[in-house]
Amino acid sequence: MDPLKQKFQEKAQALAIEMKAFRKEHANVKVDEVTLGQVFGGMRGVKSMIWETSQLDPIEGIRFRGYSIPELKKILPKAPNGKEPLPEGLFWLMLVGEIPTEEEVKWLSDQWKRRSAVPEHTFKVLDSLPITTHPMTQFISAITSLQTESVFARRYAEGLNKSEYWDATYEDAMNLIASLPRIAAYIYRRTYHNGDHIQPDISLDWAANFAHMLGVKKPDFKSLMRLYLTIHADHEGGNASAHTTHLIGSTLSDAYHSFAGAMGALAGPLHGLANQEVIKWVFNMLDVLGTRQPTKEQIAEFVNNTLAAGKVIPGYGHAVLRQPDPRFTAQKNFAQDYIQNSDIVEVVWKTFEVVPPILQSLGKVKNPWPNVDAHSGALLVHYGVTEYSYYTVMFGVSRALGVLAALCWSRALGFPLERPKSVTFDWVKNNVGAEAKA
Ligand SMILES: CC(C)(COP(=O)(O)OP(=O)(O)OC[C@H]1O[C@@H](n2cnc3c(N)ncnc32)[C@H](O)[C@@H]1OP(=O)(O)O)[C@@H](O)C(=O)NCCC(=O)NCCS
Repeated sequence: MDPLKQKFQEKAQALAIEMKAFRKEHANVKVDEVTLGQVFGGMRGVKSMIWETSQLDPIEGIRFRGYSIPELKKILPKAPNGKEPLPEGLFWLMLVGEIPTEEEVKWLSDQWKRRSAVPEHTFKVLDSLPITTHPMTQFISAITSLQTESVFARRYAEGLNKSEYWDATYEDAMNLIASLPRIAAYIYRRTYHNGDHIQPDISLDWAANFAHMLGVKKPDFKSLMRLYLTIHADHEGGNASAHTTHLIGSTLSDAYHSFAGAMGALAGPLHGLANQEVIKWVFNMLDVLGTRQPTKEQIAEFVNNTLAAGKVIPGYGHAVLRQPDPRFTAQKNFAQDYIQNSDIVEVVWKTFEVVPPILQSLGKVKNPWPNVDAHSGALLVHYGVTEYSYYTVMFGVSRALGVLAALCWSRALGFPLERPKSVTFDWVKNNVGAEAKA
């Protein structure tokens, strides 16, 4: 058994025993009360899922196994001479709860290289799609086509013992993560570079190889990809793409189906697609204003016009966060460290000064601050990746790390089929209304 799998098995077995006993003892203890506002309001804040890999605090932001993004930037292993954390290290941390050594991260990088082969039929599926197909649709199609390789599906059909679910899920998670940069880069090159594909470079780590296959030459772009693919990886379990993975996985659908479904959720403009919407909105603003260097007053006017047209300001607001997103701050710090004199970055920073007071003044927006998507597009544009319809695919490559590590845990801990209760409005009127009157 490989060393990561072995470590995971040890941790998972110990936690499964502890959790089983705890569940038995406390099964009837109330965790939370659910209000009618939450029933109608997208279940905000309802505590109803176990998700081991990360937890989100409204003020502090995301912590992966207890570590904040600034802490991880310091302590996760880096590429030689690199300043940014390697996503391999974050995956290791999320999966087994330990900061890996340099050697462990190197081992994981090598594993993903060995597992990165993409079957020919996946490229054929992609090539059969019209070039105008949205990159997220291409991504989802490719992931679904890869399901032919599922170890879990094959072994389940052969009669897999429950106690082995985690093992087959681990294999699927590792294989799927390993193949994603190749698939994502293939989509980029076929859609925007006439199918002029770039072969993988096996001397590079997972993120740097992705940067290489996209065809972006500037060396700092590899650093950006390491940071980008680390900070987008996980945002606890309730966000739409994580929860979708969890829900589909709970039916014992394999990692490929679960992750393809998750990418459908990520492709919504209120979730991952917001990263393309931000830069589309910024480009539109610069066109309308006729300048690359708008003043704060001009930006404010454009923001007000967007709101007056009944649209949201993309990249601002969050269902949980109530402060600027630390993932936004990490990208701002990256821009400060690596980039001088970029109009597009300046526009994002000025917008950051303008938007929050305007959203606050509406009196209904719970979080007027920027989220992760407010900054990512400006960095990509700076390095020449201007095709914003592609951005959510990059988010998806990263999101695989968190949701698939969590899927391994769900199978190892034997979590059951997810099946919450729905009610009709008549039921609400008859029951909740009657209770209130009484
Ligand atoms: C992320 C988001 C979906 C969270 O939704 P939520 O939890 O319902 O947010 P709130 O409770 O603050 O929403 C209350 C109201 O403020 C509005 N609001 C929230 N964020 C807003 C924004 N960025 N611009 C304009 N209005 C916004 C909501 O649309 C809602 O209006 P309504 O009552 O007329 O329907 C929301 O902030 C949003 O649409 N943001 C823009 C898209 C985005 O950046 N998504 C990426 C998230 S990481």
